[in-house]
Order: sequence, then structure tokens, then C-alpha cells
Amino acid sequence: MAIDTQVAEIEVETSKAIAAASDEAGLEAIRVAELGKKGRLSLLMRELGGMTPEQRQVAGPALNGVKDRLTTAISARKAELELVAINKRLQSEREDLTLPPRPEPVGALHPVMQVFEELAAIFADMGFAVAEGPDIEDDFHNFTALNFPPGHPARETHDTFFLKPDVSGAKKVLRTHTSPVQIRTMVNQKPPIRVIAPGRVFRKDWDATHTPMFHQIEGLVVDKQVHMGHLKSCLTEAFSRFFEVATAQTRFRPHFFPFTEPSAEMDMRCDRSGAEIKVGEGNDWLEILGCGMVHPNVLRSCGIDPEEYQGFAFGLGVDRLAMLKYGMPDLRPYFEADVDWIKHYGFKPWLLPTVTGGLS
Ligand code: PHE
Repeated sequence: MAIDTQVAEIEVETSKAIAAASDEAGLEAIRVAELGKKGRLSLLMRELGGMTPEQRQVAGPALNGVKDRLTTAISARKAELELVAINKRLQSEREDLTLPPRPEPVGALHPVMQVFEELAAIFADMGFAVAEGPDIEDDFHNFTALNFPPGHPARETHDTFFLKPDVSGAKKVLRTHTSPVQIRTMVNQKPPIRVIAPGRVFRKDWDATHTPMFHQIEGLVVDKQVHMGHLKSCLTEAFSRFFEVATAQTRFRPHFFPFTEPSAEMDMRCDRSGAEIKVGEGNDWLEILGCGMVHPNVLRSCGIDPEEYQGFAFGLGVDRLAMLKYGMPDLRPYFEADVDWIKHYGFKPWLLPTVTGGLS
């Protein structure tokens, strides 16, 4: 058969096969069979060497022309097949927007955690770091270093959860307040110190306003020339921000704590005439926290010289503060794991409070 007839035949057959190829693998098989090293066209090309120059002048361009056209046809078909494949995939992977939405997630940030976050943001902005201590404490950190005299009623079993005595007879306790974190911080850090310590605390109490586990935030500042004025302005500023009022009015009443001297309780002006308590206005006062100047004995038990350094400390109940700010009348549902309650009072966990972006 004359070479040009063969070439023409190859072109017709291969063009048909290319058009009929249904996937990329099939197309590749065609390319190998016709244009590959051992393909039909390549074999014919080898014959060029045995031809007369005249024959070669005709057959050469004819072969090359077919080769070019088939190569182009293959890549065009390849592009087509790719498009078909991707469209098919898009069809099968398409979201069905007519499906009903997934049920709304009911998980939410507990108001107590929200208040922790809010106060941490406020105090961080005022230069406080966050400190931590264990829930299970020893007598030294929970009581002795905090200047509790040996017979102090708070050590008695009716307030404190004691653990079984160890081999030496010493009984660990579930910490009754976050104040032991003061001790741990002062023992481990040199002044100046500015920390808050949020955490769980435990006391044997159980009624409408008391739960055996509750939450506190401790604050501690130790530096040279610290005085009561610093304590007052720091707390007034922090609670104005917390209750989102211009300036909260605070009142300091003398009180007693073994680990502070002088000691005080801080109240905030509020209005209780309506259904909800309003902070920042009105003629009532609401007790918010305990505070005072760190007792010299406490500084000494941590190896800090009270002649050189002074400090102030405060401790507040977070559960009650959350009740106040978010108008929750009862403490008990806090710990009942009621989905409807957390749905109503909980916070979106991804909207963490910031001083600049808004607290609540
Ligand atoms: N620890 C005290 C309490 O639990 C609160 C407090 C902390 C008072 C720091 C003064 C200073 O009641």
C-alpha cells in the first residue's frame, strides 16, 4: 500500500478513535499506539530513510502534518474530557441546600466562665497576670501561712473538707478559698507582683445561696509603697468596667480576715427597688468582695520583708457576681447541667470578652 494511503487511513481511524475516547486513560492508549515510539506513525517515519529524495519530499510533510493534527486533536479531546470529569464531580459533590439545617448547637459558655473571662480581660488590661494553684491544698498554704491562728473556727471540720490523713498524720484539704495562691505566688516570685487567681473553692455549705463548690478570683499586688488608696482605686476601676458603668460607687466597711490588716468588705451602690438589681444607681449597697492590706505575718511567711514591701489583696465570689450581672435569681441551676438553662443564660464560646471589643 502506498505510504500516503496508509497515512491517510491512520489519520481517519485515529481521529475517530480520539473522538470516541471516553476517558483520559483511553486517550493515552491511543496516543501510545499511534504516535508513541513504537506507534504506527513512528514506524512509517522510519521508512523515510529508504525512500528516494522525491518520495521523501512528499511523504515527510504528509507524515509530520498528520502527526501534528493528531497531537492537537488528542490534547483538545483531553481538555474536553477533563471538563466533563470536573463537571461530573461538581454535580456529585454539590451541597444540597434544600436539606434542613443541622440542629443548633446547645453547648455554651457557662456564665461563671464568662465572668472569669471578663475579669481576666479587665485585670490583664490593668497589668495583672493569671496565677494558679491546686484545688487540693495543705494546711500550710490554706491556713498557717495565711496567719490563721491554731484554733481558728475556719479550720474546723464544719467548714472545711479534709482528706484522709497521710502517713505523717497531716490532712490535706480542698482549698476553702483562693488565698493560698497568694502564698504560692509570693514564695515563687519576687515583687513587684500583680496577679489574679481564678479558681474553684470548697466549703461544707448547701442552701439556696451556697453550694459546696463555688468560684473565686483572688487578687494580689505586692510592691514598695502600696497603700489602701491603690486598693480602692484599683477595685473601683475594675468594677466600673465589669458592670459597664461610668464610675461605680464603692463603699469600704471594716471587716476581719486573718491574712489582711486592715481588712474591709467592699460594697457597690445599687438599686433593688425593681425586679432586678441595678448596679451603679439607687440607695442600696451590695456586698461584692473581701479585701485588705496583706498582713505583715503573711509577707514574712513568704520571705518578703514587710518593712520594704507592702501589698493589697482581694477575693471575690464569682458565682454571685455572675448572678448579679446577668440577672440570675438562683444559684442552684448553675450546677444542674440543665440544657435549657445553659441555652438561655450561656454565652457563645467564640465571642470571648475583651476590654476593647466589649465584655458582654
Ligand atoms: N479569702 C477570703 C474569703 O474567701 C477573701 C479575701 C481574699 C479577703 C483576699 C481579703 C483578701 O472570704
